[in-house]
Amino acid sequence: MRKPLMAGNWKMHMTETEALDFVNQVKPLVKDVTDKTMLICPPFLAISKLKEALAGSNIALGAQNMHFEDKGAFTGEVSAPMLKAVGAEYVIIGHSERRQYFCETDEIVNKKLFAALNYGILPIICCGETLEQREKNETMKVIETQIKGGFGDLLTADLKGTFSDLVISDWSQITIAYEPVWAIGTGKTASPEQAQEVHAFIRGLLPKDVAQEVRILYGGSVKPDNVKELMAKPDIDGGLVGGASLKPESFAGLVKY
Ligand code: PGA
Repeated sequence: MRKPLMAGNWKMHMTETEALDFVNQVKPLVKDVTDKTMLICPPFLAISKLKEALAGSNIALGAQNMHFEDKGAFTGEVSAPMLKAVGAEYVIIGHSERRQYFCETDEIVNKKLFAALNYGILPIICCGETLEQREKNETMKVIETQIKGGFGDLLTADLKGTFSDLVISDWSQITIAYEPVWAIGTGKTASPEQAQEVHAFIRGLLPKDVAQEVRILYGGSVKPDNVKELMAKPDIDGGLVGGASLKPESFAGLVKY
């Protein structure tokens, strides 16, 4: 019932021209894919051009970050209404690189989640433990703190109703990404069993009546040759992929595993 989502997080890669080349090459490779949602999250500057290039295709478009305020004196930032205006459908929130290098906290993640939902942008909320935390057996505690902090009152409010002027009528619009920090860009993937254990734990943190609707992606060195075994696990609903999403053949391989 949850349609798998394969999302490319391009990070700080690709000029507008390179992004267009990628899309023109990948479109024919994946044109027959209907059983998965495919998503590309390029740098902000390429979103507008890719919106045109992806029009009428089966590939969705997203951003990698945004500010939680609509507008204001926040030099260098981009807001949800701005993303909406250029056609971003999804936004990645709270990626570990944002947490690590840009001091993002669970409180900021929570504000961004509300802002995204307010503007009808589909959020992908990231969580994940460091190697040190895993070795100290703190993985579940860290994940629980990040999920409870990121979702805040949304986890306890009347979920099908209104909360703080916000209506979530459809929890299938919410995506969570579990990305162990030690697996990102390192070539070390969590084993399907390790990932499944955390995914099931995350689903258990969600309110019972909506938990089965929420997609939970795995991220961290996902590649065409390991995606199949990860996707075989019952609570893994897709991938958030960095490095292996940067080449058209590889992106297509991830989708058509
Ligand atoms: P990776 O990155 O696939 O290059 O490990 C994943 C991510 O950070 O989203």
